[in-house]
Amino acid sequence: MKYADRMKRLGTETAFEVLARARQLEAEGREVIHLEIGEPDFNTPKYICDAAIKAIKDGYTHYNPSAGYPEIRKIISDEINRTRGINSNLNQVVIVPGGKPVMFYVIFALVDKGDEVLYPNPGFPIYESLINFVGAKPVPIPLREENDFRLDVKELASLVTPKTKLMIINSPQNPTGGVLTHDDLKKIAKIANDNDIWVLSDEIYSRIIYDGEFESVTQFKGMPKRTIILDGMSKTYAMTGWRFGYGVMEETLAGHISRLATNCNSCTSSFTQIAAGAALTGPQDDSNKMVAEFKQRREVIVNGLNKIEGVSCKKPQGAFYVFPNIKSTGKKSKEMEELLLEKYGVAGLAGTSFGEFGEGYLRFSYANSVTNIKKALSKIEAAMKDIMK
Ligand SMILES: Cc1ncc(COP(=O)(O)O)c(C=O)c1O
Repeated sequence: MKYADRMKRLGTETAFEVLARARQLEAEGREVIHLEIGEPDFNTPKYICDAAIKAIKDGYTHYNPSAGYPEIRKIISDEINRTRGINSNLNQVVIVPGGKPVMFYVIFALVDKGDEVLYPNPGFPIYESLINFVGAKPVPIPLREENDFRLDVKELASLVTPKTKLMIINSPQNPTGGVLTHDDLKKIAKIANDNDIWVLSDEIYSRIIYDGEFESVTQFKGMPKRTIILDGMSKTYAMTGWRFGYGVMEETLAGHISRLATNCNSCTSSFTQIAAGAALTGPQDDSNKMVAEFKQRREVIVNGLNKIEGVSCKKPQGAFYVFPNIKSTGKKSKEMEELLLEKYGVAGLAGTSFGEFGEGYLRFSYANSVTNIKKALSKIEAAMKDIMK
């Protein structure tokens, strides 16, 4: 049997593979602390669950328009206008099952074979996977620790060529927790405007930010028409399993994305959309409490890691990941990932799961309890003592 050639170019997200291995070890009776998967450990707030249950009972169990219910798209465009200071309307919003399909559809709608796409590295692995899948050239924008894991705008400018079609940015960032500054965004906007480049701005962690206010690249002149904002419910409202995300973009592109949705998923779950509308318009206390809790855990994990010989860790500004440097151990990231899981029962991810510039780092998600984080820290410390002796 033969498979399509393009399947050789499709990557993956190793978090799911490490999770599967960790579950296998647990099934064999081993204790594993899960710092690998990027999802809040909180339950979806009750008022959102109640809205979904009511929606099912009220008959929101049928197909709906591919771009989503107009009333929910209106809630989203209002929310985006309020938080990003732009002037979008509901026709610019396409609702899809999660943040990931926004990447998939946008790259399919914009990028041809031979085009170049700039993307953060280390960064969310699906960007590079999809760029390769459509036959385009992935051009990594290195994110370096010495620059607080923000991209270097001068370097970014040097990577632009006449073939650059799309630039992907992500702030707050997975896996580093880095946040782009106002000045970075302003310069990124200039590069995009001067070179007529589309920008996919992955803002899925926009509400999980600890120091200062979230800013979007869309605030700069010329940017709303060339930017696709990617956001959703997964992280902010602990709704990873509900599958709700959205893109906000200029209307013609929104039409293309909506047609791609018709060809693929038809529409996003009807009652999930009603729940998402309730999430955005209801009380934000649960979500705010979750972020406050993440902030506390950030202190515990960063301080704990920095006390361990062989590890150094910058304080992330947003999201719920740390990206500690393990270069002084002399071990490769992947080797450390395997050792920590197999021998010490701590599931984390190699920095290289996020691209070549992640070598020498690990990613731990601190979407876990303080008790478990402390337990993991003592196991990591034991591992480091063994390695460093
Ligand atoms: C940067 C980034 N973008 C998008 C997503 C995808 O989110 P969703 O689960 O809504 O598809 C993730 C999930 O981990 C992410 O880290």
